[in-house]
Amino acid sequence: MKTVYFITSNEGKLKEAKTKLLGVDIEVVQKNLGYPEIQANALEDVAYFGVKHIQEKFNHPFILEDAGLFIDILDGFPGVYSAYVFYTVGCSGILKLLDGVNIDKRKACFRSVFAYGAPGKNPKFFIGECNGRISNREQGDHGFGYDPIFIPNGDTRTFAQMDTEEKNRFSHRGKSLEKLSEFFKKL
Ligand code: IMP
Repeated sequence: MKTVYFITSNEGKLKEAKTKLLGVDIEVVQKNLGYPEIQANALEDVAYFGVKHIQEKFNHPFILEDAGLFIDILDGFPGVYSAYVFYTVGCSGILKLLDGVNIDKRKACFRSVFAYGAPGKNPKFFIGECNGRISNREQGDHGFGYDPIFIPNGDTRTFAQMDTEEKNRFSHRGKSLEKLSEFFKKL
């Protein structure tokens, strides 16, 4: 069985990746190496620079991921700033920004970009998106980040009201991981 290191400090992402990649002959091992998240307009650029940074000091195959929440009525905010916004004002800050906004105007999209890096190789990218809407209040205890306020299309529950397997069935990360798992199967 091959080992692939997941460069992340986020236990939620790790759990989702391990669950999704269970049927693949790959062992996912967490590696908590920091890397600078550059200020860029696209998640792909953040992931690309992350890979380049890690490749300079880590001599094994690895994956890393950048994700973001893009809210229509806020012109895509917080988007690439999702981590900073979560750290500063959190879910309640987003709910305040959308205070009084009708449910059909609360459309949002979660995006996930996984990058696979290996020594001496160009990075490969695997992208997943999930459309949905921002709820009126926080609901659920599962997951992490903005999960309590995001309802994916096709369901009435937030991600935080779903277990890992259910969230993976809908989520941006479930979709990018699906593509990654197809890639791993051919590796
Ligand atoms: P990053 O990929 O760790 O930079 O994530 C950006 C921000 O979005 C962080 O605050 C995460 O907590 C949040 N985030 C990323 N993925 C998800 C998700 O699947 N659900 C909820 N929040 C997420």
